[in-house]
Amino acid sequence: RIAEINGLVSGRLRIAAVTTAEYFVPDLLGPFSAAHQGVEIELAIENRDRVVGRLTQGIDDLAVMMMPPDDLPLERLQFQINPLVIITSSKHALANKTVELNELSTERWLMRESGSGTRMAAEQHFKEHNFKPNVVMSLGSNEAIKHSVAAGLGIAVLSQLALQPSVWSGAQSAAATTKTAVPLDYEALCQAGLSIVKVKDFPIIRHWSVVWRKDNPLSATARHFLDYLQAAAAQKKT
Ligand code: PGA
Repeated sequence: RIAEINGLVSGRLRIAAVTTAEYFVPDLLGPFSAAHQGVEIELAIENRDRVVGRLTQGIDDLAVMMMPPDDLPLERLQFQINPLVIITSSKHALANKTVELNELSTERWLMRESGSGTRMAAEQHFKEHNFKPNVVMSLGSNEAIKHSVAAGLGIAVLSQLALQPSVWSGAQSAAATTKTAVPLDYEALCQAGLSIVKVKDFPIIRHWSVVWRKDNPLSATARHFLDYLQAAAAQKKT
């Protein structure tokens, strides 16, 4: 199915990405797709548990995620920082305040559904800090979390990438290295009815990786995409 003739790559590229990666993966795929007209891209967006399920079954060439599982034979390329922040409604008394995590124990917490990597990272972090959030609701998407928080239903942990335009396009991209995140546009956030609470030991710092199975040889198209991703990440660092 895959043909690589005189440097021309064609065939199918199957990628699974966790839901939070939907904010930037299309921007990564755009230039690659434009430069490789013969490549048909299939992008599946699922939460972490389902992406792990797809990796287990070997459905995709590549998967983009934050916390690859340890029990599968995977290669990985880490390419981007993923800070997880605490958000409130912009009208909340805590908006833009600096507090200790334990001061948030009586807040109403909104969490992503179980199976979400964002939830897993938040729960790990809370456990490490002996913190028990008062979870009142689980929601199945980042957008549902944002709208519910803006409506004043509670506070939540969310990837900074879900709060701002893509870091892979536009004038801000030069600021996004693998070590530092693009500064948040607080005004735009406020217009969306949201604010950040500055909490000690936050943001939770995680990274995005692209992973693939060691026991499943990469197609020429997938290798080509990895080279492209590595070059894009290197360009952002300069
Ligand atoms: P998710 O994504 O919360 O949408 O599952 C985060 C991740 O698993 O990387």
